[in-house]
Amino acid sequence: MHVDSAKTTISKHIYGHFAEHLGRCIYDGIYVGRDNAKIPNTSGVRNDVIKALKDLQIPNLRWPGGCFADTYHWKDAIGPFNERKHIENLSWGNVREDNSFGTNEFLDLCELLGAEPYLALNMNSGTIQEAMEWVQYANHANGTSYLTDMRARNGRANPWKVKYWGIGNESWDCGGNMSVDHYINLYKQYATAITSYSNTEKLFRIAVGPGTPDYAWTETLMRDIPAKRLEGISIHHYSVINWSAKGSSFQFSDEEYFKTMQQAFRMEDFITRNSEVMDKYDPAKRVALIVDEWGGWYEEDPSGKGQLYQQNTIRDAMIAGLTLNIFNNHADRVKMANLAQIVNVLQAVILTKEEKLILTPTYHVMEMYKVHQDALLVPVTVQTNNFVVGNNQLPAISASASKDTAGKLNISLTNIDNKKSQSIELSVGSFKVKQIKGRILTSSTVQDHNTFENSNKVSPQEFKKASFAKGTVSLTMPPNSVVVLELSE
Ligand code: AHR
Repeated sequence: MHVDSAKTTISKHIYGHFAEHLGRCIYDGIYVGRDNAKIPNTSGVRNDVIKALKDLQIPNLRWPGGCFADTYHWKDAIGPFNERKHIENLSWGNVREDNSFGTNEFLDLCELLGAEPYLALNMNSGTIQEAMEWVQYANHANGTSYLTDMRARNGRANPWKVKYWGIGNESWDCGGNMSVDHYINLYKQYATAITSYSNTEKLFRIAVGPGTPDYAWTETLMRDIPAKRLEGISIHHYSVINWSAKGSSFQFSDEEYFKTMQQAFRMEDFITRNSEVMDKYDPAKRVALIVDEWGGWYEEDPSGKGQLYQQNTIRDAMIAGLTLNIFNNHADRVKMANLAQIVNVLQAVILTKEEKLILTPTYHVMEMYKVHQDALLVPVTVQTNNFVVGNNQLPAISASASKDTAGKLNISLTNIDNKKSQSIELSVGSFKVKQIKGRILTSSTVQDHNTFENSNKVSPQEFKKASFAKGTVSLTMPPNSVVVLELSE
């Protein structure tokens, strides 16, 4: 490791999240309503969720979808609650959506959390006019139009100044089933209309990239969108065994576990190949690659706790550990990522049941890794054995490291092998280690998880088994574990 040559910042936005109007993510999960006497809340948002997300230091939150965004009309969800339009959620379960959580509620929540909002524009059933007006409602100075007057009447005089705007979502599928050329023409209209001519507002416009290894899509975006109208390209990658047989989230075989890890590892290739295409047109790496949906996706929990509700086990901690290492190591191009999704949906960091809340193994990994937010990437290579199942194998250990503003070296390591411990030696070059602190997240099986009855079965513990001698840090990681070390000089 060459600690002194570290120069690329790991954007804190790699540790971002995603909240969609889907199942119990927003309603019940985040928002329980202002009149809820049973669950303590601030303007309708659960206090326990606010605390957990503040502790996690979430840097950004993407909203309102996902596919939901592709039919969302923001004006339905502003103003007095009794005047808001009730709509059918056509993407997720055809349930009635009362729009009680809308733009003001979301942007106020982000402000409370100290997180940057990331709004997804509806370029499927929406219009360019509607998108322009949303930007004005959110961002323009008080008194500049009927939109900012409307904002003031709704209790908010000052703009929120939203920087991140996704132009569409999965436009090759639920977002309009478009060809790339059709998408690009429309993108250019949106990208031009939502900003002033020279984008003096410095909006960060994110184009829809591929959700499969369709590198021609990425190449066409890079080639055909003028550089001054593009700040980021988003990609989606879920760790799913098989879309038609996703398997249980907490009862799975070794073989299924291995297949999930294989899918998670594909993120490396997906990022590398997209980056290669982007490098061709943008060697200065001005355009960001943004993984705005990622995580494990299994069968919905049969308990009926909500659409796309799934348990979150040590397997998910392994996905999180190795994926975040991949993002960190690609920090020169990957500038933002959003785990799908934040509460009660897919690989959630929080699960709720009425007034109860649990933090999942994934929450704990993201909390342990938060030391990397805005720190300088220190390239690290680690010798690793393979994790072998049948005739297949994957590297057992993944790692990333960074140096923070206080000069501390933080190293995160994941051992996905669920049978064998792994001994690791890391050369830290000229870094004179005086003190090592460590934390570990592990449990006896990869199926282990927290429940509402036993909410601390899986939680981080102190790790004291790392030592330093002759420029080398040595440790042994137990099976299926995540370790984060903090080294001080
Ligand atoms: O995260 C769930 C869904 O997955 C999103 O709505 C969509 O964008 C993706 O297909």
